[in-house]
Parts: sequence; structure tokens; C-alpha cells
Amino acid sequence: MSTEPRRLLPLLSSHRPGRSAVTCEYRCGNACAHPAPNTSDNTYFGDVAKSVLSRRGALKATAVMSATAAGFAALSGTAAAEVPAALAGRGNGHGKPSRPVPGTDFTPVAPNTADAVVIPDGYDQEVVIRWGDPVLPGAPRFDYRNQTAAAQAKQFGYNNDFVGLIPQDSSGWRHLMVVNHEYTTETHMFPAGTYDPNNPTEEQVRIAWAAHGMSVVQTVRDPQGGLKVVPSRYNRRITMDTEFEVRGPAAGSDLLKTSADPSGRVVLGTQNNCAGGVTPWGTVLSGEENFNQYFANADAVTDPVEAERLRRYGFKAGASNRKWERFDKRWDLGQEPNEANRFGWVVEIDPNDPNSTPIKHTALGRFKHEGANIKITKDGRVAVYSGDDERFDYIYKFVSNGRYKPGRSAHARRHNSRLLDDGTLYVAKFTGDSPANEIDGSGKLPSDGEFDGTGTWIPLASGNVSHVPGMTADEVYVFTRLAADKVGATKMDRPEDIEANPVNGRVYAALTNNSDRGKAGKAAADEANPRNGNRNGHVLEWEEHRGDAASTTFAWRLLLVCGDPAEADTYFGGFDKSKVSPISCPDNVAFDSHGNLWISTDGNALGSNDGLFAVPVEGPNRGQVKQFLTVPIGAEACGPVITDDVVLVAVQHPGEGGTPENPESHWPDGGAAQPRPSIVAVWKKGKWGRSGRIGS
Ligand code: FEO
Ligand code: CA
Ligand code: CA
Repeated sequence: MSTEPRRLLPLLSSHRPGRSAVTCEYRCGNACAHPAPNTSDNTYFGDVAKSVLSRRGALKATAVMSATAAGFAALSGTAAAEVPAALAGRGNGHGKPSRPVPGTDFTPVAPNTADAVVIPDGYDQEVVIRWGDPVLPGAPRFDYRNQTAAAQAKQFGYNNDFVGLIPQDSSGWRHLMVVNHEYTTETHMFPAGTYDPNNPTEEQVRIAWAAHGMSVVQTVRDPQGGLKVVPSRYNRRITMDTEFEVRGPAAGSDLLKTSADPSGRVVLGTQNNCAGGVTPWGTVLSGEENFNQYFANADAVTDPVEAERLRRYGFKAGASNRKWERFDKRWDLGQEPNEANRFGWVVEIDPNDPNSTPIKHTALGRFKHEGANIKITKDGRVAVYSGDDERFDYIYKFVSNGRYKPGRSAHARRHNSRLLDDGTLYVAKFTGDSPANEIDGSGKLPSDGEFDGTGTWIPLASGNVSHVPGMTADEVYVFTRLAADKVGATKMDRPEDIEANPVNGRVYAALTNNSDRGKAGKAAADEANPRNGNRNGHVLEWEEHRGDAASTTFAWRLLLVCGDPAEADTYFGGFDKSKVSPISCPDNVAFDSHGNLWISTDGNALGSNDGLFAVPVEGPNRGQVKQFLTVPIGAEACGPVITDDVVLVAVQHPGEGGTPENPESHWPDGGAAQPRPSIVAVWKKGKWGRSGRIGS
């Protein structure tokens, strides 16, 4: 295979660029085919100073006022000394590229449409676990033709997304691997002719309930390469039947009570778990994303306030796609209107305690959480970043009141988990520093050479106190999107994974795309979302004021404006665009120990399979995107974990453009087999049969 980094391929024909119609339908309920639900007249740029003034009584936070009124001057005037050189300067990536940056020294993989995981020369790979493999004792061998709900509840679930790797010793030998199972694709999970989308059987529905959720498996390192899953008392499945404890300020709210749970504190199951993060105390946070699609009959709710809340979250009239409402009334909004309020949260599970009850953290707000990642503030508190993955939705941050207790003991885990129940929830407003007429929607860089500016964290609620006029604190937490609409948050191009770089401390967010940006009646391009009809997405980088995650102001700039580097509307951190890999639709972000950013993609609009990319963020090689691997045809690259000696990637929905009759992919089993979502380990071949260092 050619290793020339930027050879492009003809576009595939599909539902929307790079994604099959089936993926769109089952993963996110065709979110992109429906009108974007943020129709608020939230005028978040030019008019914001005026609108904030009119709400002065509610928005008392002085940081909000000063930064909003003064815009870039707030940071350039009072805090310029605090803005790191890399953000304040203009020279990054423009210098002479140095030798390959440690961690990214590999020959990039070329774009392709192979039915394989394609990795750099000198590397090797192995499947760690695949859909249907045993997790719990007594799990039967996977039988595609005779699957049962009882078997699925003990086996690895479907459509793996986030992967978290939690060390169990200091040698890197033993880990707990925690995996999200975002969604089911019933048309592909059952043999040809046996699944009728209009009439699923109860057993098929129960298989789907068991295939959702999460898995915990213990792994041991193979000195020659990847990871092996081993039987262990830690192995665990979380399914739609697992009990969760609702915690934080909205726990017990009337908005969360149902006939099955009059306490409003106990929920069965977690749904559409997309990305997530490992906490500093060794638990896992996981985001409930496109939860709306599982509920039927939004039209049965006629109260205008309640109907608007449902519309803002994308709930639909009539039967749901999967028809679960036929087998449990909790999926029918006409019968249990509050059940939907019990999904859309960040959940926390403690893999080190297999008997622990997982938690839904209401203080982190309810929206289509892509994921959640933690950064410790300068005074030892906990900040959590999370994106709401929908066109024109927002970026959020939570900051705890209490301080983090270092360590991973049971006591520390309990204490630190409680921090996520008491603090302030914020939403982000981005302000550009270039004249508005220089942001013309084409992606052309403004005259100052960068898409950049300053930002403000606008408080929404603190504990039981709402900062949003006309909304109680409970309403802010349960209907967070509507709260953010009211305070001038910036409408973003599908905010996905957000994570702080452990080396330079800055925060990075993937924004996948937004086909509607700039359309009639929709928000036009702004400096933080600078392309109309954004097909290829971008990557945003920000530095909190004084580098402190508790700050309410920040400086930001775009690291990447993705797409074909030969096109004028792309930007690679100032790096020479003839020497980078094309990248499209960034989704998940991760870091290696050197501080390089790793990005996985969802929906490549350039005709190649999706993949995983590494990019230095410092020095003369800043912006040098290199493709590390591609996933099989139809698949999305998820859950990257980058250690010094192994890379894990979750291959989600391989071959989803095909059908069981005519499979598009036979990965990973080959031959005539149906495709199976799986986790893959990749390592560098080393000397004497041992693996080498990734990217070195
Ligand atoms: Fe499940 Fe936002 O990707
Ligand atoms: Ca600028
Ligand atoms: Ca994702």
C-alpha cells in the first residue's frame, strides 16, 4: 500500500458523506436528516453584550460580565501575560520541521477503502475482544444464527465505542478494560430474513437491551504484543436492566419520578453510551448520547412547555425505530413522560468494585453527552468537560466545590465520586478576535492569520441555585439545552470528545461537522466555527486563564480545520499542508505520554475509511497530522487508547453499509462471516519478540 500521505479517493455514495443510511438510523435516530433541534434565537456574538446586560440581575458572575463586555481585551489587556506563548504567538508550525516528533515517528497509512485495519509498516495487530465473546462465567460461545438475550447478557455487547484502560499494577501487566456499547443495529445482528423492523420479536428486543450498556473485562499484557482478556471476578456487564443510582441536585426531582420509580432516584439501564473518560481516581465516566431515539409517541405529550422540551431534545412522534415501547411502557412517552428525563446523563461506574451500583450524575447536566473528561483545578477541585453532540449545540464544564483526594483506594473513589454531585455547571461562549467581515464562511484565514479569540464560561446552576431566569435549578439540570439557549452560549459544529492534554494542560475539542452551518435561518459561520456547510469538521484548542480549569475565561484557537489539505479551506496548525494526511470528521481525542494529540474520525467525507491520526501540538511540527491506521469499510474509529507500547481502537459498525444477505465487510473473522464490532490492539514489532515503543 502506498504510504504517500495525502492520496485521495473518489467519494462513496451514501446517505451523507462517509456514513451509511443504516448507521445514521440506528446510531443517532437520523439526527442529521432531521432539522437541528436548536432553533433558539440565541444570538451569541454581536448582540451578546446587549442581551447579557438585560439579564444582569441573573448573571451576576463578574467574570462573565467583564469578559463579555471587553471581549478579547479582557485577556489581552489584563491577562496577556498569562496567555501561553503558543496561544498568543503566531509562529507555531511555520518553522522548519524538526526530526520526527517522539510518538509520531511512523510512516503514515494512506487513505483506503480496505476491509481491514490497515496499520503502519513495522506494526502488528490482534483483535482483543469482539461482539459476542464471553465476558461472564457461563457465557455460551457466540452463535450468530441462534443468539439469545440470556447469552448476550453474559457476552461482549454490540458496537463498542469508548475504551478505558485502568492499570491494576505498576508494571502495566494487568488492566481493567472498560468499553461502551453505544447502540445496536438489529438489521445486522440477526441472520438474513429474521429481523422485521416493523415487528421485532420480544426476544430480539431483549437481545438489544442486553447488547447495550458497557463491559468490564480484565486483561493481561502479552509481552509479544497485544492484550488478552482473562476470566476474572472483575468482569462485568452493564445492560438495560442494570440498576443505577441517580445522584446530585436533581436526584429525587418530580421531573425524574415514574410509576416504576416514585423516588426519582433509581433508573434501570444506560443508553447510547458514546465516549467517556477514566477519572483520576480510577472510575469511568460515560456519556449517554442519542437517547431520544429510543422513545415513542412524543406527540402524545400536548402540554406546550413539555412538548417544547421534548422537541428541543429531538424526540419524535409515533413509534420508535426499535419498537421497544411494545414490550415495556417506559419507552412510551404517552404513558411514562418522565422516563426520558432519566437518560442523557453522564454515568460513572467503578470497575474496581464489581458489586458497586453505577451512578447518574445530574449536576453535570442532561444533553447528548458525547463523553466526559476530568482536569484537576489549581486548588485541587475537579473540572469535567463535556460536549453536546448535535448541530448548533454547546460545550459545557462542571467545576466541583470540594477538593480531590489523590489515590485510587475505595475511600478515595467514594469521596471523589461525590465531588461530581456538588458544584457549578457552565456553558461556553466563544468570541473571535478578528473583524466579523473577515469570517466569510469559506474557511479563509482572517488577516491576523488564525481563527482565535477568547471565551467565557457562563454559569447555569450551582447546587440548588439556578443562574438562568425563569428556570429552577432542577429544570436547568434536566433541560440543560434550554437553559444554555437563554444565556448566549455559542452554537457549535457538533461538539464531541473534549480532553485536557496532560503535558501542556490545554484542552482540545473535536467538532465533527455541521452541514447546516450558514443555511437560511441558521447560524452563520463565526470565528470558532468558520466554515458554512462544514463537511469535514475542526479541532479547537483552549487555555484556561492562568492554566486553571476553574477559571471562567479562556483563550482559544483552532488547531485544525480538517479536510483535503489541497483545498484552501483547510488549516493544519500552520504546518506545510503538502506533508500531512487528509483528515475528516474528528470525533474522539486522546493523548500519548509525549502530549501529542491522537484523533479518531467518524464519517470521513473524503472517500476513505475512517481512521486514527496523531498530531504534534507543539514546536515546528505542530499540525503535522499523520494517519496511524484505518478501520474496515463502513466502520467508525472509536475509543482510542494510546499507551507507550500499545494502541487500542474500537472498530464500531464495520460493514454497516451492507446487509446480512450481502455483507459489505467480513471483518474480523474473514471468509463469509458477518462483520463484528471489535476492539483491536496495535503494537510496534520489537526486538527479541518483544513489542517496541509506539511512534518511536
Ligand atoms: Fe456517538 Fe457523537 O458520536
Ligand atoms: Ca483571529
Ligand atoms: Ca463518538
